[in-house]
Amino acid sequence: MRVRNKYRKPTAFPCNVGSRCSISAVVWSLVGFLLLLQFYSLVSRRNEVSRDITLRMSRHPLVRELEQVEEENIQIPPPRGKRSPRAAKRRPKRTTTLVDEFLDENSQIRHVFFPDMKTAINPLKDAGNGSYYYYPGRIWLDTEGNPIQAHGGGMLYDERSSTYYWYGEYKDGPTYHAYKKGAARVDIIGVGCYSSKDLWTWKNEGIVLTAEETNETHDLHKSNVLERPKVIYNENTGKYVMWMHIDDANYTKAAVGVAVSDYPTGPFDYLGSQNPHGCESRDMTIFKDDDGVAYLVYSSEDNSELHIGPLTKDYLDVKPEMRRILVGQHREAPALFKYRGTYYMITSGCTGWAPNEALAHAADSIMGPWETMGNPCIGGNKMFRLATFFAQSTFVVPLPGIPGSYIFMADRWNPADLGNSRYVWLPLIVGGPADRPFEFNFGFPLWPRVSIYWHRKWRLPSALSV
Ligand SMILES: *[C@@H]1O[C@H](CO)[C@@H](O)[C@H](O)[C@H]1NC(C)=O
Ligand SMILES: *[C@@H]1O[C@H](CO)[C@@H](O)[C@H](O)[C@H]1NC(C)=O
Ligand SMILES: *[C@@H]1O[C@H](CO)[C@@H](O)[C@H](O)[C@H]1NC(C)=O
Repeated sequence: MRVRNKYRKPTAFPCNVGSRCSISAVVWSLVGFLLLLQFYSLVSRRNEVSRDITLRMSRHPLVRELEQVEEENIQIPPPRGKRSPRAAKRRPKRTTTLVDEFLDENSQIRHVFFPDMKTAINPLKDAGNGSYYYYPGRIWLDTEGNPIQAHGGGMLYDERSSTYYWYGEYKDGPTYHAYKKGAARVDIIGVGCYSSKDLWTWKNEGIVLTAEETNETHDLHKSNVLERPKVIYNENTGKYVMWMHIDDANYTKAAVGVAVSDYPTGPFDYLGSQNPHGCESRDMTIFKDDDGVAYLVYSSEDNSELHIGPLTKDYLDVKPEMRRILVGQHREAPALFKYRGTYYMITSGCTGWAPNEALAHAADSIMGPWETMGNPCIGGNKMFRLATFFAQSTFVVPLPGIPGSYIFMADRWNPADLGNSRYVWLPLIVGGPADRPFEFNFGFPLWPRVSIYWHRKWRLPSALSV
């Protein structure tokens, strides 16, 4: 000890515990070095991302148009004596908000959220003008002039026919309450399917999975619940596979069902339902990765968390492997997409048919860990952003030829008349200035921002409008 002390420089460290001090110094320098490394890798990653954005922007100037911020200035009408019981019950003490107006069937500004048939998007009438405009919230007619019935839907791009297929809940029936405290519902009619080459003109391909009329023990008996159907194509079997949320009217079954067809336009054969991994499964989606592996993502444990796990090779079942993600965050309505090797997900909160705040999440590996980034909504006004433009996520469609650009598909539910719920499609773009993150990583957000831009009227960059 003495010998070593003799050689120690007195100015090295302002302390006198000798060796312990130098060990901690080494440890701290190491920590500092690692922090610097982390910082450097983050900075370079961010630079890479912003270089990518610059590249993308210069290649696709039309994307800039999609990123324009449109504001909304909606005047809330003065409070009236009598509100519909639905609105009154929901928020008894607070002052009137736009969400109250939205939920009030008799609101004076109902037409803002649910414009009438006169303003419907009509490809028969407007296509000649080369319109191709999306008007989020307006009635959208198919090529026969009927409102599109594909709620809680998903999109399949069929490479073999170069056609988009939009599947969703066909809800063109009366809305009622099965039980006094039950949620508003429409009997199962089936899964609607529409086809399009341009993502705007939709041809009705009919009901591709139909309800069961008589057999009360069947999952698809009309008194049950069928929600959020999603279809993917299996290259190994050459079959189109549909997954959907199956439940009873009280949402106690909490299961997931599978159906299969040789054609994208069905008819689909129903194979049955299960509680995946022995768990509750309510809002769900499926996601097919680049390597052909598909995953099921579902809300579980009373919707307090999501579960994710791979499907078997034929996509007809889940494998035993499962991870719990976004635990305790109470998210539903998951919609997944992938960009430059990173997985992204948009989810909603759990407030029944009422709109709430969307969140974006990201992960390096699809099985997690997933990080929550924040609210992706831009434009409109604060209430629009806090209510996901009065809609709930259901799917994200990649736009071919425009990397990092997507269509965000959402449902504007109409609890008084569910079959008259509307579609809110908006541009979703990955990149741009980093978001205020919910979870920090050494003080720096790890992911590029996911942004969904509000537009009263917009269309895809013209290259797509065939
Ligand atoms: C299409 O043209 C008709 C007739 O000129 C017009 O009334 C209608 O508003 C146009 N639609 C759009 C979306 O521009
Ligand atoms: C009713 O559906 C159940 C469940 O799918 C099935 O097991 C049963 O055979 C069906 N009954 C009839 C009469 O078709
Ligand atoms: C749903 O709940 C209601 C009221 O609690 C009950 O009367 C009914 O039998 C339940 N139905 C099912 C299918 O569980």
